Amino acid sequence: MRVLVIGASRGIGREFVVQYLAERAQVTATARRPQDVAELEALGASAFQLDVSDAVSASGLAWRVDNAGFDLAIVTAGVYGPHTAGLDPPTEADFDAVMHTNVLGAMRVLPQLADALAPGARLAVLSSRMGSIGLRSARTGWLYRASKAALNSVLKDVSLAFAKGSEGAPSWPLAICVALHPGWVQTEMGGAGAELTPERSVADMRRTLAGLTPAQTGAFLNHDGAVLAW
Ligand SMILES: NC(=O)c1ccc[n+]([C@@H]2O[C@H](COP(=O)([O-])OP(=O)(O)OC[C@H]3O[C@@H](n4cnc5c(N)ncnc54)[C@H](OP(=O)(O)O)[C@@H]3O)[C@@H](O)[C@H]2O)c1
Repeated sequence: MRVLVIGASRGIGREFVVQYLAERAQVTATARRPQDVAELEALGASAFQLDVSDAVSASGLAWRVDNAGFDLAIVTAGVYGPHTAGLDPPTEADFDAVMHTNVLGAMRVLPQLADALAPGARLAVLSSRMGSIGLRSARTGWLYRASKAALNSVLKDVSLAFAKGSEGAPSWPLAICVALHPGWVQTEMGGAGAELTPERSVADMRRTLAGLTPAQTGAFLNHDGAVLAW
């Protein structure tokens, strides 16, 4: 099994690397800082530097992974931005930082994966239940929520594009594409008081990813596989 994890320096992305390596997958992982690349290599992954919010850095992905034949690609890179409680307008700098990482970053890297995936591969973006409009009952972190709602839209378009394939394409999707909510997880973003350990969240998501069927492409799923409202 060949796995790609984009945004693996820490938190959920790093835990995906650890768990897939433990099941003897060939793991390729990315991080922004050289010391994090070195640490991923020390774990046993192939690793290279990638900053999804940097146009030049992100554009280098395709040649790095051309024809890699990944069975699974996961984009975990993400930032929360300002911890707002109400309708505080974000600064332009905060807006750009969050949207460039969570939305533009995905729009940059996902199309570059088309030639790097094995037939019938799985592709996941780490979204958030906070991005769900249908389930929304609070308005904390409205910039983050808006970014994850936009990421969900991006994932849906990618699932449609990757389902079509080229002329003479097989009847299965090029990739089964899903947006995943990892739960509320004990990472730098989730905080120490979060409900789930990264180990548990990632174990759940691995099980969910392994059980995906082609009919599920374009879905928004909880870590345990339950369908979430957009
Ligand atoms: N933790 C939760 O409760 C929770 C809940 C719902 C959704 N999520 C989502 O799950 C994903 C992972 O979250 P986490 O909890 O593991 O967060 P985290 O501990 O804060 O880690 C975030 C990761 O994203 C990377 N990253 C940030 N900006 C990047 C960029 N421009 N280019 C490449 N990588 C970048 C970070 O790299 P650096 O070390 O270089 O900064 C780090 O590896 C995020 O998309 C998050 O929105 C998390």
